[in-house]
Amino acid sequence: MRHHPKLIDQFGRTVDYIRLSITDRCDFRCVYCMSEDMTFLPRDEVLSLEECARLVRVFVSLGVSKVRITGGEPLVRKNALWLFEEVGQLQGLNELVLTTNGSQLEKQAVALKNSGVKRINISVDSLKPERFKKITRTGDLNKVLNGIQASIDAGFEGIKLNTVLMRGSNDDEAADLVQFAIDKKIDISFIEEMPLGEVDHTRNSTFVSNTDTLKLLQSKYLLTPSLETTGGPARYWRVANSATKIGFISPHSHNFCESCNRVRITCKGELYLCLGQEDKIELMPLLREFPHDDAPLIAAILGSMAIKPKGHDFDLKRAQPAVIRFMSHTGG
Ligand code: 5AD
Ligand code: SF4
Repeated sequence: MRHHPKLIDQFGRTVDYIRLSITDRCDFRCVYCMSEDMTFLPRDEVLSLEECARLVRVFVSLGVSKVRITGGEPLVRKNALWLFEEVGQLQGLNELVLTTNGSQLEKQAVALKNSGVKRINISVDSLKPERFKKITRTGDLNKVLNGIQASIDAGFEGIKLNTVLMRGSNDDEAADLVQFAIDKKIDISFIEEMPLGEVDHTRNSTFVSNTDTLKLLQSKYLLTPSLETTGGPARYWRVANSATKIGFISPHSHNFCESCNRVRITCKGELYLCLGQEDKIELMPLLREFPHDDAPLIAAILGSMAIKPKGHDFDLKRAQPAVIRFMSHTGG
């Protein structure tokens, strides 16, 4: 069944894509994402998996056709697979996709594929084990590499690496990571670091612009701009004589807000209308007060379209992060 779009905001943008964070927890502590001593939410303040499934079902009934499950690290949540299986069966949903750090994929890739997950994004910032450990604080590169291979073997429609480059840390690895993607016949995107949450490192001095990364890669590879889009903010370039495309997600230099088709839901059930703004609506009270009646929830979601902001405003020179909440909270 095809749905008519029902979620249209005041600027005429149709929202057909939700990103749902199912946990704020993660087995890694990436330096740009978390502080060393994170405190996580108590369990009753986090949506149950049943509540997550209900939310997705309601959004799909409102015309949403793409759902990305994120975290934190979604695959560390107990029984996460149950949710994938529930959501994977929804009529009207075209694309169930996942963002993960890869640590659990060696065990879970096949089951995820069978549940209906079409594409996965796997975060990898370095191919050097010691450096990988330094950036993630707790991560084991070997496990992630095994997870990537297990995902390739499982036969997903698309696998994309996500890389955040930081000056003086891993900015010398852009070409090596691209070569790895080419060898594995998968894609890669470079994400500029965004000022989300208070972390221990200084973002001004580590910021690497995608313009510089593109220039560097163009000196090593023949790249042709591609008009392809996966419905996200990335700009893509094809690498000649390979199956690989390179994406650049540049929240600072390229304002993609005018074509924004998404909203985000935190693991607390907060509906954020923009990654870079504070505008939100609390859905958890509606889920819990009306366990058998979706009408109040639907009314709130429809009403939220009136407060979806025109765009974000990231500025690294600001003293405070633009947004105090962490990416692991809102979902990347
Ligand atoms: N800026 C940019 N990217 C970030 N990620 C997490 N926090 C940030 C941040 N502050 C990335 C992760 C993952 C993706 C979902 O978002 O590395 O690849
Ligand atoms: Fe975990 Fe992803 Fe944040 Fe790293 S970036 S700490 S893997 S949620």
